[in-house]
Amino acid sequence: MILEALNYAATWPLTSAEYRPFIRSSVNLWARANRCTSAWADHESRTKAAILAAAERCRHRRTVVVLGSGLLRDVPVMELSRLFDTVVLVDLVHLASVRGWLTVKRLKNVRLIERDLSGLDALLGAEPFEPLAFLRQVPYLDLVVSANLLSQIGIGAARRLDGHAHKGALLRQVIGAHVEGLAQIAAETCLVTDVSYTVIDRSGGRHETVDLMQGADLGDLRAEWDWPVIPFGEESRDYQILHHVIAR
Ligand SMILES: C[S@@+](CC[C@H](N)C(=O)[O-])C[C@H]1O[C@@H](n2cnc3c(N)ncnc32)[C@H](O)[C@@H]1O
Repeated sequence: MILEALNYAATWPLTSAEYRPFIRSSVNLWARANRCTSAWADHESRTKAAILAAAERCRHRRTVVVLGSGLLRDVPVMELSRLFDTVVLVDLVHLASVRGWLTVKRLKNVRLIERDLSGLDALLGAEPFEPLAFLRQVPYLDLVVSANLLSQIGIGAARRLDGHAHKGALLRQVIGAHVEGLAQIAAETCLVTDVSYTVIDRSGGRHETVDLMQGADLGDLRAEWDWPVIPFGEESRDYQILHHVIAR
């Protein structure tokens, strides 16, 4: 609790006013990730492997942009920093703990950008809705990684759209725009995201499965696996919540 409060307080002055409301959920994620280190290890190493395989496919390795870099748990940032001239990390919030770690590791070619990647403000404001268009301004872009972000974009947007008459249709647009935006980039791309979750009891009984992609088709997959986001004992002794993850 004390470490969480310190991380929160240290992140506050480093974060623009617009993004301060998101510090709390980033700190909560940080605390949960620390509690679930062993349950999440396989998922994190599979995500890193998918990202490094995409890096291997790049003909040039000048700039890589990582969308949803978050806590850098599933992003092989040391390797990317060695392989690419510039590494750009994009998220709503970059916690003080993450910034401090980058400083200690002396990763001098890493840049941080705060940005809402959902594009929901533009969609609701009837402005041009192209949330990944900013990537066209990135010089020498060779790889874009979406790192366990897309489901979270959907969850955040769903929260904001609660009670909206066209919630379902808008959510489909938000998810679709990310997938479409990645497809249009003139660079290698790597999309890793959880696509659904299932509540499972101790005897293996499956209680409820929820689609996190609003029915979007993500195309051909390179790999898929399960991620116990909420293992037994985290929220309940009797249930775990298993997310299904794809890499494309
Ligand atoms: C499951 S975490 C990703 C984990 C991260 N790749 C890591 O290695 O720790 C999801 C991340 O997406 C970010 N996020 C959620 N909604 C976002 C949005 N609309 N725009 C930008 N980032 C967002 C969160 O702040 C969080 O860091």
